[in-house]
Amino acid sequence: MDANQDGIGDIAGLRARIDHIHQLGVDAIWLNPTYPSPQGDHGYDVSDYFDVEPMFGSLEEFDRMIDDFHQRGIMVLMDIVPNHVSSQHEWFQSALTEGAGNPSEEHFIIRDGTGPGGVNPPNDWVSIFGGPSWSPFPSSGRHLQRWYLHMFDPCQPDLNWHHTDVHERFENILRFWLDRGVDGFRIDVAHGLFKAPGLPNRSGFGDNWSACWDQPEVHDIYRKWRKIVDEYESSRFLIGEIHTATRERLLEYLRADQLHAAFDFSFLHQDWSSDGFRDRIGANLDLWNDTGCLPVWTLSNHDEIRHWSRYAPLLADRSPDGQVANIRYRSLLALIMALPGRIFLYNGEELALPQADVPDEDRQDPAFFRQTPDSDYKGRDGCRVPMPWDANLPNAGFTNSEPWLPMPEEWHDYSVSIQHDDPNSMLNYYRSVIQRRRIEDWMKSDSIDEVESSSDILSFVKKTENKRVRVLMNFSDSDFPFDNDNTIMRTSDSDISDSFLRPGELAYIEI
Ligand code: GLC
Ligand code: CA
Repeated sequence: MDANQDGIGDIAGLRARIDHIHQLGVDAIWLNPTYPSPQGDHGYDVSDYFDVEPMFGSLEEFDRMIDDFHQRGIMVLMDIVPNHVSSQHEWFQSALTEGAGNPSEEHFIIRDGTGPGGVNPPNDWVSIFGGPSWSPFPSSGRHLQRWYLHMFDPCQPDLNWHHTDVHERFENILRFWLDRGVDGFRIDVAHGLFKAPGLPNRSGFGDNWSACWDQPEVHDIYRKWRKIVDEYESSRFLIGEIHTATRERLLEYLRADQLHAAFDFSFLHQDWSSDGFRDRIGANLDLWNDTGCLPVWTLSNHDEIRHWSRYAPLLADRSPDGQVANIRYRSLLALIMALPGRIFLYNGEELALPQADVPDEDRQDPAFFRQTPDSDYKGRDGCRVPMPWDANLPNAGFTNSEPWLPMPEEWHDYSVSIQHDDPNSMLNYYRSVIQRRRIEDWMKSDSIDEVESSSDILSFVKKTENKRVRVLMNFSDSDFPFDNDNTIMRTSDSDISDSFLRPGELAYIEI
């Protein structure tokens, strides 16, 4: 929500809409980076870790926001970005301007190029956003061209984590925000930070992964961070965005003295398949078993295609009233809400927002601009279009001026103002399922078994001391008749049937 009408969401806007978040029933929020940033990668290029981006507000406003959320019993998690800084960060600026060999250069990964005069990058690493992960760095009279490493956009130079200044700086950053009352951090690219010694070519080394990511030194950093967080209340929390080549490597981050949790991204890339969901659920439960860290479930985030568009759009075409699509979407929420662990929702999914079709000329994501001409990948703007609040206002009430990404006209129909009082809206469905999870012990319960999939039906059993509930979800395209003497407690379809599950439907059945 844009409070000062410059087209960009801000902290005052968030505070103005706090009731929406409160009524949704969540117990924490995670904010994408709010630090001063040139917004080259929408905040993931931080130029000052000890302040708030003026476009979003001020430190005072941020403090008031924390108070507002805490008063409603909602925790606030920040994003922390340790792998790289903005090229506008004071360290990179000093490195650029203080002349070759100045100590600030050591905060970054700067190497001579290869080939005649160093015209080629130091190695064959590629940026996550496409293209080489090296850009020219001033050579200040040396014979060879120098290059700096950026695993993402050139505006995000990677830090040299072998330098103790970097360690110290990040420990101070953690303390600075924890002291202000922040409840924890989502660690951006937590598997990054260190690179393989000697920066070997990925071709010679085997794969990109073992050269550029997930180096053993990173674990000492998280051990230190955990100690810092543990100096505060036990509810303070570290969750990593972690990608590793193998499951065993992921376990290393979740040791008792490191992170509290890791995102599971598997649902973000899982097709509509009962066996697929069973396997993903099983793997996540195994991880929990091996580490003691509660699983994390998520269907959408700011980097991926919104899950309405992943699971439902074709179906909406097939069934005239869009009912099947709607049922599927509801079932997915009812599914994750019945699983043990933590759930992360992405803003706007409670309105059933689809992926927006952003015209190429309005796109902003650096990943879009680094694609080769033959690529179909359009970047991540389509999931980042702002929230529609009020159907009767221009830009659905998000802003009076031009929104930073265009608001599709049809999004007015998804507005909170329309869904708020409609008992059948997706928003009220989200509210009711979240509320139910607060009340129903079996939903919160950690006890789950019989996770099975057969003939496109996913099922599992949740238990408390005095209740057993079977969760059944129909992934097939036809009705699933079931012989049932038990009580259906709830289904994802508003027309409860006690003899069959419709395509896409999920039921909670007391057994
Ligand atoms: C993470 C963030 C993504 C960002 C990238 C670089 O993957 O989720 O949005 O672009 O890191 O910081
Ligand atoms: Ca604004």
